[in-house]
Amino acid sequence: MIVEATTELPADAAADTVVIGVLEDEKIHHDVDDGALNGLVAAGEAKPKHRHLAVTHAAGKRWILVGLGKRAELDGECVRVAAASAHGRAREIGAKRLCWEVPHKVGPEIAAAIVEGTLLTGYRFDQFKSKPSENFTGPEALVICAHDDLSEVVGEAEIVTRAVNVARNLQNTPPNEMAPRHVAAAARELSSLQGVTVDVEGREGLQRLGMGSFAAVAQGSHEEPALITVRYEGPDSSGPVLGLVGKAVTFDTGGISIKNANKMSDMKFDMSGGATVLGAVRAIAELRLPVRVVAVVGATENMPSGHAYKPGDVVTAANGTTIEIINTDAEGRLVLADCLTHAVNEGAERIVDIATLTGSIITALGNTHAGLMASDDEWAERIAAAGSATGELVWRLPLHADYAKALDSETADVMNVNESRKAGSIVAAQFLERFSGEVAWAHLDIAGTAWGAGKPYASKGGSGWGVRLFVQLARSLSD
Ligand code: BES
Ligand code: MN
Ligand code: ZN
Repeated sequence: MIVEATTELPADAAADTVVIGVLEDEKIHHDVDDGALNGLVAAGEAKPKHRHLAVTHAAGKRWILVGLGKRAELDGECVRVAAASAHGRAREIGAKRLCWEVPHKVGPEIAAAIVEGTLLTGYRFDQFKSKPSENFTGPEALVICAHDDLSEVVGEAEIVTRAVNVARNLQNTPPNEMAPRHVAAAARELSSLQGVTVDVEGREGLQRLGMGSFAAVAQGSHEEPALITVRYEGPDSSGPVLGLVGKAVTFDTGGISIKNANKMSDMKFDMSGGATVLGAVRAIAELRLPVRVVAVVGATENMPSGHAYKPGDVVTAANGTTIEIINTDAEGRLVLADCLTHAVNEGAERIVDIATLTGSIITALGNTHAGLMASDDEWAERIAAAGSATGELVWRLPLHADYAKALDSETADVMNVNESRKAGSIVAAQFLERFSGEVAWAHLDIAGTAWGAGKPYASKGGSGWGVRLFVQLARSLSD
């Protein structure tokens, strides 16, 4: 979909269909055909009720009136959802060029949300269909109409949203086509962007770097693992080096502690954290944000085999910690442990890791919030604020020495799980914290939000959750 911004009136815009938001107790400013649009509201056919839709023909175009609720309650999320509704109707009526009028006197985040909601809704993953889905031909162009020139805001929102959709492609790609080497290839693509360098280490590299924890997970698979390091150096960046660390288990069978067959195919999404990190770096670099980023993605399969790691094994992580493996299905934390050490060694001054780490977080928070756990209050609040701004909500859970104790091992320094399974998401975070050094660290558990989260603009498949949050976070560090 092409995206443009214009200061023309909607009636004059090069579009066959125009979307106008209806706000409670407010008239439509630029009416056509002697009051056709306000007449539709007066007749009760168009309503300010959020997501309500009405369609009419006037001034040689089609007009979709979509309810936006009360102005006082208008925010980005409400607009993204309304844009999803409008996109659905536009598709039904065969709109080719869709114009959206930005409501008067709103902040730039509203125009951005129209772009996001529309491009996210228009996303399809049909690469593996022998015939592209017939009943889908969404609009080819989106024209954003506003009083002021919003081309910069619109252009930036387009960059960010395209990066979200790239992350969704990585997530949705079947695991035979998205093995660790494919994740590495996706990362290498970023090196064409100004300021970006990419480094990939395989099995040998893991050994050389002493990453016995990551290597243990990878040893059961024929697929070569990939430790991916992406650096971005923005212009005039003086703030702290932002460390982004992502789990990219391209398929999680559970290993020797094998999962049951029920929905195991969903475990292709276990690389979502890595997809988010790569999507975020792409957007940050394309936007030329004045920050420095060191991103680390740990990509591997978790497979059972004759050379797989097994319960009872003791492995040594890169920071010297010895880990007793109790359950090979708690592999994400083993991968992340060494990736966190690596991020610290590579100069990260604040770290946030992101992972589909625990089923428990789905029990606790469902699809609405990601779990946030952090060693530093200021850092946690900054991350939560970024999520509020982008509509990617997080909920902080506590850390406490008692939770860490649950992982005390008879044999090694630490176990990878506690058998009681109490507070599973927190205990996993306590495990990770041991590998974050002295750096302010936070952990996002996205097992509930990374796919199938049911948002109107991203209901099925990968959601790209966190790309927008990370871009916002990088922006907040550059202010
Ligand atoms: N990738 C899973 C977590 C997961 C489960 C994500 C379901 C999305 C949906 C992770 O590697 C895992 O298997 N975690 C175990 C940990 C347990 C063995 C302590 C879990 O949550 O069951
Ligand atoms: Mn697992
Ligand atoms: Zn996993």
